[in-house]
Amino acid sequence: MSVFSTQRLEGKVVLITGASSGIGAVPAILFAKAGSNLILLARRQDALTSVASAAQAAHKAAGLTVGGKVATVVLDVSDREAVAGLLGKIPEELRKVDILVNNAGFVLGVDKIGDIKDDDMEAMFETNVYGLIRMTQLFVKDFKARNTGHIINIGSVAGREAYAGGGIYCATKAAVRSFSQSLLREVVDTKIRVTEIQPGLVETGFSVVRFRGDKSAADKVYEGLEPLTGKDVAEEIVWVAARPSHINIAELFVMPVNQASPTIVHRPGK
Ligand SMILES: NC(=O)c1ccc[n+]([C@@H]2O[C@H](COP(=O)([O-])OP(=O)(O)OC[C@H]3O[C@@H](n4cnc5c(N)ncnc54)[C@H](OP(=O)(O)O)[C@@H]3O)[C@@H](O)[C@H]2O)c1
Repeated sequence: MSVFSTQRLEGKVVLITGASSGIGAVPAILFAKAGSNLILLARRQDALTSVASAAQAAHKAAGLTVGGKVATVVLDVSDREAVAGLLGKIPEELRKVDILVNNAGFVLGVDKIGDIKDDDMEAMFETNVYGLIRMTQLFVKDFKARNTGHIINIGSVAGREAYAGGGIYCATKAAVRSFSQSLLREVVDTKIRVTEIQPGLVETGFSVVRFRGDKSAADKVYEGLEPLTGKDVAEEIVWVAARPSHINIAELFVMPVNQASPTIVHRPGK
């Protein structure tokens, strides 16, 4: 008997935001392998298409007769009207979402308070906070009506403890943490589950975005230690989703060995 069964995910509809790369791309494949159906959402169609193909191939290889339907939706979660019209873009057979993974997010720059650009501040809040809230609002009413559903928010170690040079990003992730806690309290009299996953250092495109394409600056973030991978966090996402329906993993704080906080990082290889 397997300790970690994914059987409960068979036939479920999973919507993942930021599914075109990094942390969000891998659970698409793992959920498909487990027999779930998927709605993959991000801004880049080409990247979404290749994740969708990989997910379909994984489902086929698993030889399951349930699940395996995959839809892609090109959408910017910071676009209020686009989110409001999202249901119209999802094929009818996938509109009853069971699991919402609010993963889309990013950080821009390391500017100190006083030098933070308005555009960066707005972009981070619009995606990391308002986008996540709008997506949640869109689906939670249906979850309440059906008395089911699971919202998995990707927070960060940066939402637990702030660091210099992360004034806006840390504030957005602290907001994700607080919002997740309010939601959990509001749905306590239902079967809806709310999880916040708080990863530490994960090597994805995240730091390349932070340093605006400067790959060598991004590489330094992970230098000398073995960071988490997108797959590591994806496995946590699938694990919390596959728990029996009476179990809610409310928070999952996961860091690589050699990281103890956003700033306490030991780099044995450096
Ligand atoms: N990497 C880390 O160290 C780390 C640690 C803790 C938490 N996190 C969190 O993990 C999440 C995923 O980040 P990642 O590390 O996987 O970074 P990533 O590789 O840069 O992926 C970010 C994903 O979000 C999508 N995205 C960004 N803005 C979007 C928007 N406005 N609308 C729709 N999709 C959007 C991107 O796709 P498109 O460009 O195609 O839209 C991409 O698929 C983020 O919330 C991040 O804050 C990351």
